[in-house]
Amino acid sequence: MHGIHEIVIKVQAEMGNPMASVTIDPSGNYLTLESNSGVKRFHAIWLRDNAPDPETRSQGNGQRLIALRDIPAETRIGSAEVKNGGLVVSFEPENKSVVFDLGWLEANGYDQGSVRQSGWTSDQVETWNSGLMADVPVGDFAELTKGGAALRDWLGLVVKYGFGKVVNGPVESGALFKVVDLFGYVRETNYGRHFEVRTEVNPTNLAFTGLGLQAHTDNPYRDPVPSVQVLYCLESSAAGGENMVVDGFAAALRLREENEDYFNVLADHCAQFEYSGEDGVCLTSRRPMIELAPDGELVGIRFNNRSLGAVTDVPFEKMDMYYAAYRRLGEIIDDEAMEVSFRLEPGEAFVVDNTRVLHARKGYSGEGTRWLQGCYSDKDGLRSRYNGMLRETVREAAE
Ligand code: FE2
Repeated sequence: MHGIHEIVIKVQAEMGNPMASVTIDPSGNYLTLESNSGVKRFHAIWLRDNAPDPETRSQGNGQRLIALRDIPAETRIGSAEVKNGGLVVSFEPENKSVVFDLGWLEANGYDQGSVRQSGWTSDQVETWNSGLMADVPVGDFAELTKGGAALRDWLGLVVKYGFGKVVNGPVESGALFKVVDLFGYVRETNYGRHFEVRTEVNPTNLAFTGLGLQAHTDNPYRDPVPSVQVLYCLESSAAGGENMVVDGFAAALRLREENEDYFNVLADHCAQFEYSGEDGVCLTSRRPMIELAPDGELVGIRFNNRSLGAVTDVPFEKMDMYYAAYRRLGEIIDDEAMEVSFRLEPGEAFVVDNTRVLHARKGYSGEGTRWLQGCYSDKDGLRSRYNGMLRETVREAAE
C-alpha cells in the first residue's frame, strides 16, 4: 500500500554505511526504517523529541535544551531520506530538518513487537549457580587501582554477575574505602561510614558462633536500599566462616520455573521490613521480595529473615500461598547447588550488588578471630564508571 505522500528511497551503502531505506506513513505520524538489522518504526513525536541538533540538545553535555511543550503536539514527518549514513527528517509544522545517526536509531529502536515473559533480565546480566565457583570474578587490588582495562573488565564482571572479589589488597583498617574509590562513593548510614564485623571464636561459644547465617540481602528496611556492599577482610585465623553468595535473580527465576504462582505472589505484594534496634531509629520499607519493573523486568530481590516485619499487604486468601512461596524461595536460596563460596583472607574483599546477590557467612569449626570491615555504596556509581570506561574504549578503538 503506497500512499501518494509516501516516499521510498533506497540508497546503496557507501563505504562503512549500512544499506537502509525509509518509508513515511501517509499520516506522517511515523516512518519505517528498513536496514540490515531489520524493520523498525519510529514516531514523529519521538524522533522530534530525540533530535540531536544544537537547538534541541547541548553539544557540550548532551542535555536536552527544550521541553516537550516547545514541540507542537501535531508534529508530523514531512519528508525523510537516507543520506550519507544518516536519516534526514523534516518535521512539520516547524519545517525543521534534522539528521539522525543510523547507528543511534538502530541502537535505540523500540519497535520490538514481542512481549517478554515476566522476570526477564537486562542483557548486561547473566544469572549463575554453583557452577560459577570455578570462575569467581576476581581483580588484583594493585591492577584495579591503576584503572584501565583491568578495572573496566572487573567492573564488567560485577555488573554481569552481581559480585566480584578483590585480592592482594593492603591489610590495614579503612582499606575498604580504597575499594569503593574504584567505582563510587560511600553511602553513610546510622551504622556509620563503615561497620566492624569482629568474631572471637573459642570453645565456650563455639556452638553459638558455629551457626551460619541464612543468605540475605542487607538492610532491606532502607528506602532506597544500599545497592552495593563491600566487605573487607583484615584478620582471619578461625577455621571456617567462609563467605558465600547466591544469585537472587537465579533463585527467583528457578522459583518461577517451579511454580509461577509462587513467583507472582512474591512479586505482586509488598513485604515490610523494619529495624529499630537502637534508640531513635525506626527504619521501615514496604517493598516486594521479588521486584519487577512495570514491564516485567526483574530488577531487585529483598530477602532477610531477621528484618522482615509483619506482612500486612497480602490479601487473606493469598497469605497461605505467600508463606509457601517465601518458604520455597528460602529453600532454593539454601540449596548448595545455587551457592558460590570462598574464603576471604586478610587483604581480600568482595563487592556485592545488594539488590540482586544474597550473601552469608558460613559457620566456624575452630577457634581464632575474624575481623572484617564493611560499608555500603551505590550501584549507579559502579555502572556509571563501567559504562563510562566502556564508552572510552569504543572511542579509542574508533580513533
Ligand atoms: Fe549481611
